[in-house]
Amino acid sequence: MAEAMKGLKRTYRCGEITLAKEGETVTVMGWVQKQRNKGGVIFVDLRDRTGLLQLIFEESDCGTEHFAKAEKMRSEFVIAAVGTVEKRAGAVNENLATGEIEIRVKETRILSEAETPPFPIEAESRTKEELRLKYRYLDLRRPDLQRNLILRSAITANIRKFLTEEGFLEIETPILGKSTPEGARDYLVPSRVHPGNFYGLPQSPQLFKQLLMCSGYDRYFQIAKCFRDEDLRADRQPEFTQVDMELSFVEVEDVIDVNERLVQFVCKEAVGLEVTLPLPRIKWIDAMNRFGTDKPDTRFGMELTDVSKIVKGCGFGVFTSALESGGSVRGLNAKGQGNMPRKKIDALVDMAKGYGAKGLAYLSIGEDGSYKSSFAKFMEEGQLKALVDAMEGEAGDLLLFAADKNAIVWSVLGALRLELGKQMGLVDENQFHFLWVTEFPLLEWNEEENRFVAMHHPFTMPMDEDLAYLDSDPGRVRAKAYDIVLNGVELGGGSVRIFQNEIQEKMFEVLGFSKEDAYNRFGFLLNAFKYGVPPHAGLAYGLDRLVMLLVHADSIRDVMAFPKMKDASCLLTNAPDVVDKAQLTELGIALVEDKEEAGAERKI
Ligand code: AMO
Ligand code: AMP
Repeated sequence: MAEAMKGLKRTYRCGEITLAKEGETVTVMGWVQKQRNKGGVIFVDLRDRTGLLQLIFEESDCGTEHFAKAEKMRSEFVIAAVGTVEKRAGAVNENLATGEIEIRVKETRILSEAETPPFPIEAESRTKEELRLKYRYLDLRRPDLQRNLILRSAITANIRKFLTEEGFLEIETPILGKSTPEGARDYLVPSRVHPGNFYGLPQSPQLFKQLLMCSGYDRYFQIAKCFRDEDLRADRQPEFTQVDMELSFVEVEDVIDVNERLVQFVCKEAVGLEVTLPLPRIKWIDAMNRFGTDKPDTRFGMELTDVSKIVKGCGFGVFTSALESGGSVRGLNAKGQGNMPRKKIDALVDMAKGYGAKGLAYLSIGEDGSYKSSFAKFMEEGQLKALVDAMEGEAGDLLLFAADKNAIVWSVLGALRLELGKQMGLVDENQFHFLWVTEFPLLEWNEEENRFVAMHHPFTMPMDEDLAYLDSDPGRVRAKAYDIVLNGVELGGGSVRIFQNEIQEKMFEVLGFSKEDAYNRFGFLLNAFKYGVPPHAGLAYGLDRLVMLLVHADSIRDVMAFPKMKDASCLLTNAPDVVDKAQLTELGIALVEDKEEAGAERKI
């Protein structure tokens, strides 16, 4: 084993050898997928990131010493082999790119041995994710994860290519920054040199990219690591990557234009997907009214219907009281689901409650046209018929209604629509529906904090025609903000920025920051604006989400090399972990010893 690579040079990767190379002497290296000893012949499937290759060992070709090595080979050994490319003597394996050939080995070397891995290294693993994450380096040998990471690399390479050719400069911004939380929580890093002071890890390069615009780098991009201390989901990680950009001297249309072409280019070059331009656009209010969400999945219909006008004044208290308190009544028509068993309807009701609904009203239309409903008895026949007509209800349909504040009705029906779409098999997984959502509200009322918060971020420009209401009626102001959505996932978002200090200061006022507060947090940006700032706008994509959707992965964990668990821990390295007392002392940090008091439990 001491000789390792001496005198050996790999000539091809496993998947690169085809029948065209018949007769050639090649040197290959990789991991043993499987060794099969058939007595006088030994077959070894050799694997690397390009695929599998069959090696054939016969003592008459390679001699006793090399044959003995082949006998020793076990799964996951790392080996090298020198041999000739031959047409397979046995059956051709049509599932393999190299299925027509095999390598008749003359010389072999075991480069390293391997213990039996805790789970088989194969596609579509059924191993629990916890175990796979603990041994992530083995999991990453599996062909499906290798394919995802290879495609991710192709996607980033094409993003860089396109943006560079469009005149964007790739510029890095700091990871150790100032904590300016607004939205998610910041990750903090204590300073040794300034005890009691902390850096914040960036949630995005937002402030720095705006400063770069002030400095004249009129088209910037970065493939940037971002950090957000928030609850994790399938499409959220505490540490993720943005494709971040900012442009000077532009308006909404310019940002949309360059990004549509970027998406088209990357989809075509990296995964061979044709995207037709221009992408559809939908205003935020229409997205909410039609789909109950600002990230609609338009691969299927089943749109929401507002029936408030029809049920107004009816005898069903649930509907009327929602309307009286300023809410709405809206419905979904689950076509052909009129026979849905009670149990399944109950599950939908429970789900609706999980989204804040007090309940869910239903009406199923029998094949004979009769109604079965939780509320029909409270309504007159004519009104009921008008309701069914408005919903385009036909024999065999199931109509579901939610009555509440708009925000709740939207979120309940939006979620139900997705669930029913899935249950009813309405979603074609092979379709890619990109769209823009525009004209977002600038602000959103936060019940807990009893104040307006920025829907995108505090630097987003109001729409010109709504600017006048920033003082008098902030809730109705729309923003020059846009999101790009793919198959119901928010891929990216951005906005035209405020570049006038008066508007920015007014915005902070509306958000409830004192002038002092605003300058404490964002003074460096506000000051920069005093020295000549170009109008600017930008956008950031979640790269992990883009890759996840383009490679058909279920979670962004499947397109990241070393993702974290739901509780933000890393099973492989055991981060986060306790540190030495000396390290803490140096940082001027004392831990609250009483765990209960600290409200925290240390991991073992
Ligand atoms: P925003 O906060 O919308 O905008 O983030 C942009 C995009 O980043 C992705 N994303 C995430 N991906 C994985 N895990 C997370 N925890 C996570 N959080 C966000 C989403 C999202 O659309 N600075 C602005 C952009 C701008 O205005 O230019 C920003 O960060 O896909
Ligand atoms: P197994 O499933 O273990 O029987 O292995 C089947 C694979 O081994 C196929 O790819 C065949 O091409 C190959 N194979 C099996 N026996 C022979 C043989 N005697 N000569 C050549 N190839 C063989």
